[in-house]
Amino acid sequence: MARARRRSRAPLLRVVDLRVEFRTARGRVQAVDGVSFSLDRGEALAVVGESGSGKSATALSLMRLLPEPPARVTGGRVLLRGRDILDLTEEDMRRVRGREMAMVFQEPAGALNPVMTVGRQVMEAVTAHRAVTRREARRLALLALAEAGVPSPAARFGHFPHQLSGGMKQRVMMAMALASGPALLIADEPTTALDVTAQRRVLDLLAYLRRRHGLALLLITHDLGVVAQVADRVAVLYAGRIVETAPVRSFFRGPVHPYARGLLDAARMATEAGELKAVPGGVPDPRGLPPGCRFAPRCRLRLAGGSAAGARRCLERLPAPVEVGPGHVVWCWRAGVVS
Ligand SMILES: Nc1ncnc2c1ncn2[C@@H]1O[C@H](COP(=O)(O)OP(=O)(O)OP(=O)(O)O)[C@@H](O)[C@H]1O
Ligand code: SF4
Ligand SMILES: [Mg+2]
Repeated sequence: MARARRRSRAPLLRVVDLRVEFRTARGRVQAVDGVSFSLDRGEALAVVGESGSGKSATALSLMRLLPEPPARVTGGRVLLRGRDILDLTEEDMRRVRGREMAMVFQEPAGALNPVMTVGRQVMEAVTAHRAVTRREARRLALLALAEAGVPSPAARFGHFPHQLSGGMKQRVMMAMALASGPALLIADEPTTALDVTAQRRVLDLLAYLRRRHGLALLLITHDLGVVAQVADRVAVLYAGRIVETAPVRSFFRGPVHPYARGLLDAARMATEAGELKAVPGGVPDPRGLPPGCRFAPRCRLRLAGGSAAGARRCLERLPAPVEVGPGHVVWCWRAGVVS
């Protein structure tokens, strides 16, 4: 009974058919083209994909932080605890940001105010959502810094961002994000700009915060090693569309979409050779996407061993989803055909 009740609960976040475009002098860019996924309380979903696939545009639209113009959300719903945040006033959205969901970015330096001490910045994050005395705000800010793994927070309170290392700045940003106890943290490539040691510390911190606070995590990365370490589920984005989504174990046992396979092969080769070997070819120009499968121009599978009609279908029609395992869904016309 209790189990049945738990299962019937709505997810924390449900994104339905999200569409985002950028209007530029050179034309319209369909950055996010019908993205749907959901995230339960305490769950970690990794979104992977190469540069330009729409990861940041997706994340920023969930926070309603896209620069409008040139960006515009042209369709879809973003349901946070069942409420569509795309319908909220800016004032209501300010309350949602921080209190319910928060975001950390790839470049902590750009997100911190260079002329304000880090202590003040965390204090401001605390007081943005809570009416507390200065003294209490300072206490909570110190706690948030300690929680985010900043050693000797009292000593670092009066430091300016430029006095801290990249990894430490990332922790300060996390302290700010966590200051109002959000249920969801969106982290856009939080470790990309860091050295290996700092990367590991940030990933350990994310794992700790999930355990300790039941924080749900939407983690954007192009690093499959990070996915394996942190996420429960993965969604692979290609040219603004999800092409494969799966529980992490099932994904690493056998990705099915040719692009996802390419990504994993590249990651394995990178580990062996010590450098990243990209999937051959590049993301199609988002101003002129093919009408069928977005991956068709790069796909070797399309022509390998199938019929001419099948190869044409790839070019002409968007693939329908195929469930290849529990919770493992692939958008490829040949998903059920090849193993
Ligand atoms: N401010 C902007 N103006 C015009 N086009 C933009 C803007 N921001 C993003 N785009 C375009 O939208 C598409 C998706 O970009 P996005 O930044 O979401 O990619 P990404 O997956 O986050 O890439 P990266 O891994 O490089 O961060 C790209 O084609 C990009 O050129
Ligand atoms: S639908 Fe066709 S072109 Fe697209 S990934 Fe599958 S086989 Fe390749
Ligand atoms: Mg990005």
